[in-house]
Amino acid sequence: MSRVTFTIDGKTATAEQGQTILKAAEAAGVYIPRLCACKDLVPHGSCRVCSVRVNGRIQAACVQIVTEGAIVENESDEIREYRRNIIDMLFVEGNHFCMFCEKSGHCELQALAYRFGIAAPRYRYLYPKREIDLSHPDVYLDHNRCILCGRCVRASQDLDHKNVFQFVERGCRKRLQVDGEALAATDLRVTDEAVASCPVGALMRKRVGYAVPVGRRPYDEIPIGKDIESPGEE
Ligand code: SF4
Ligand code: FES
Repeated sequence: MSRVTFTIDGKTATAEQGQTILKAAEAAGVYIPRLCACKDLVPHGSCRVCSVRVNGRIQAACVQIVTEGAIVENESDEIREYRRNIIDMLFVEGNHFCMFCEKSGHCELQALAYRFGIAAPRYRYLYPKREIDLSHPDVYLDHNRCILCGRCVRASQDLDHKNVFQFVERGCRKRLQVDGEALAATDLRVTDEAVASCPVGALMRKRVGYAVPVGRRPYDEIPIGKDIESPGEE
């Protein structure tokens, strides 16, 4: 397979023809933050956390294909600020109380906040009124924590070959809906990839609380992205 040469933050790297910038960077040992992109799922470029500047234009690295001679900026002050703002907004648009959340230490949103040095959001909390679906015997869906990344939607369709989740409405009214009255009315199983795909504490298994003590969870010990930047050092 022919290869293309590009630079990322001044470092020259090569990529497979047709590879996305996110994957090409990863192969070159450069971590690009992401939330809606997930291994084994076709990327769809919705969260924009992976934004990079490519030949002067801001693009989503998870869907943008790397081209010969592309100049990619991933770690500039501008790009860091851009991503930080997106992460900040995700926190205030929902109700995220990390100290009470079983996902703490496993949560990609929280881990990104740590990586970006976000101790407190800079925007006003919106405190939206959202529901928790506890109807399913093994899984619950807490809409307060849903960041609308769509990973469960794609995982359910593409990996589980079901159609448990979909989005309804648009813009600030957009929300996740299940295929039925409630989660219990769907064919969701606790072992479905959709459940495992959620990056935050929105879609969670029941009865596994504190199986791993707080302080010893993956992102308590190793910052998100370190496995790509320094493999073998974890
Ligand atoms: Fe994303 Fe989780 Fe919300 Fe599904 S439930 S859209 S995986 S945050
Ligand atoms: Fe690329 Fe979400 S990870 S847009």
